[in-house]
Amino acid sequence: MKRHVSGYVDTILAEGDEPLSNPSNNAYFGDILEKRLSRRGMLKGSLATVIAGLMATKFPLNSAFAAQGGVSSPSIGFAPIAVSAADSVTVPDGYRVQNFIPWGTPIGGDMPAFALGASGDDQGNQVGSHHDGMHFFPLEGSSTEGLLVLNHEYVEPRFMHAAASGLSLDRNGFPQHEDGSRDADQVIKEMNAHGVTIVRVRQGESGEWEVVQDALNRRITAQTAMRISGPVAETDYVKTKYSPEGTMTRGTLNNCAHGVTPWNTYLAAEENWSGYFANQDADIDRSQARYGIQTRDTGRYQWHRADRDDEMFTRFDASSKGASAADDYRNEPHAFGWMVEIDPMAPESAPVKRTHLGRFAHEGVIFAPAIEGQPVVAYSGDDARFEYIYKFVSSQPYQAATADGSLLDEGTLYVAKFNEDGSGEWLALAPGQHGLTPDNGFVDLADILVNTRSAADFVGATKMDRPEWGAVDPATGQVYFTLTNNTQREEGDEDPANPRANNSFGHIIRWQEAGSHAGERFEWDLFVLAGDHQDSRDLAGDSLDDESIFASPDGLWIDPDRRVWIQTDISESVMNEGIFEVFGNNQMLVANPETGEIKRFLTGPIGQEITGVITTPDQRTMFVNVQHPGATTTAEAFANGSFSSHWPEGGSAIPRSATLVITREDGGVIGA
Ligand code: FEO
Ligand code: CA
Ligand code: CA
Repeated sequence: MKRHVSGYVDTILAEGDEPLSNPSNNAYFGDILEKRLSRRGMLKGSLATVIAGLMATKFPLNSAFAAQGGVSSPSIGFAPIAVSAADSVTVPDGYRVQNFIPWGTPIGGDMPAFALGASGDDQGNQVGSHHDGMHFFPLEGSSTEGLLVLNHEYVEPRFMHAAASGLSLDRNGFPQHEDGSRDADQVIKEMNAHGVTIVRVRQGESGEWEVVQDALNRRITAQTAMRISGPVAETDYVKTKYSPEGTMTRGTLNNCAHGVTPWNTYLAAEENWSGYFANQDADIDRSQARYGIQTRDTGRYQWHRADRDDEMFTRFDASSKGASAADDYRNEPHAFGWMVEIDPMAPESAPVKRTHLGRFAHEGVIFAPAIEGQPVVAYSGDDARFEYIYKFVSSQPYQAATADGSLLDEGTLYVAKFNEDGSGEWLALAPGQHGLTPDNGFVDLADILVNTRSAADFVGATKMDRPEWGAVDPATGQVYFTLTNNTQREEGDEDPANPRANNSFGHIIRWQEAGSHAGERFEWDLFVLAGDHQDSRDLAGDSLDDESIFASPDGLWIDPDRRVWIQTDISESVMNEGIFEVFGNNQMLVANPETGEIKRFLTGPIGQEITGVITTPDQRTMFVNVQHPGATTTAEAFANGSFSSHWPEGGSAIPRSATLVITREDGGVIGA
């Protein structure tokens, strides 16, 4: 068995993505298979042959999948478009695109206009940056008016501050004083560009969508007061100087994908949050080390080094400075890595960190359709190399009349194990289960949840190739997850669920639960191996073609008609280069879940990823996010003012993340 350790350079990693931090001895399937094969006297190296055989023609379809006859395929009626490397958005003939709510659009307060010189406080009344997961909450069932709620994953400071102009800054760079400290207002602006935007929008007479000033409009940021709920609340793990009782914290970070609860609230995921923290303690335990925090005086944006002494900044240094945890911010990182529940219809309500859904690099969360009298079930992936897929099952049954977030505070968190024969099992991460006992280092449920990754290591979960978004097929209940890539999986470490070494292109896995979504067993198969014309495989066993090649699947959504929308996030560090050149800019495609047919629907501008997709209830308006256009701008080009993208304004404008509003010229259903 191998251990993976940090300390190497991975060129495919995007900015902010976590370094490797899974040191567990969990078996890779490769090890298991190899052992089984050598017991049978077969030569080492035969594993590759076995996997090649599995993948040669068709995926091994399980009976659970073959038995899905009688369910109708969705119509996918548009003419697929070609890949593109242009600095523009392309959609099929007959479709229209409006660029909407770019970073800095005013939504509240005194409606501060977008300007590079806008202040930190102005940013608190404007749409944040780096748009990601998103949902449309219709007002009174309307398809022309509702609340658009969207995450803002991170920021690119060089494109945010007037003071950055002319400096040699790459996509990680930010203006600093000579001593390394940072301008406090710049830090506030960056904090306020994180989080979530809630904005009322409507379709005007002309058909164009517009922002409506409204009391429901709200910004949730890296500073917003939040309640900690569930088994970790009020424990020693989350006691800080700000909240000596361990009931509250401030802010949410790196909100990637999202989820929508059956009771119609919004969940924002906290993904690559650990990079924001400095910690100068010599000994850092698993509750931080297993999440990538190492002894260091640096944070992603050096927020802890603002040039104004205030705990709103210094809390990002988790060093032990006081007499106890209630005197400093050594526990501040324990307040991150959760799913955050927000009620968009209650603007005064504090967001709630729901700790029973586990602590990791949550990409997002997807709920199974709620059934009256049955438990609530939610799936969530941990997006880092060799991390896991989880699900939460509530203790209390769903009752539509009374359901609320308290259902997420009591239940069981499970982690997935994908067996090589196409079966799978959910392993409970609960006290006394699978050896999660004090003797083995897991004191209680709060300990297990704060150290979710360590608990999952211990029970022997399957190490996956970066689990990203999930989606549930409304007709079959099959659950799909994107596995975006993993170039650190070595030969011999492949397994049937993650079958490629040096997995540059990623794949999509799906499973069918045995019985209900709350059950502990499932059957799985692979929906598609993404890739180019040679190194790819669709459900029919064919290679992808001009209409369907893609890499690094990330965003995923299945619409009410069962169209599987796939969004790509080839890292800005490699896009349009080498083996990735053939894919052009990041894109969105549509797949048929029955036949596996895939067609390209949209291509985005230069340097961005396409992420976040939802339609209005009538499916006649689709919202899609474009994140980090221009991220491929080099430091030298930035200094010269020559950005790789000027989208969406064009000309010499700075690039800005924004939302696309997509409609059909004939007013029809998107994708049909
Ligand atoms: Fe934020 Fe895993 O993408
Ligand atoms: Ca993502
Ligand atoms: Ca991604």
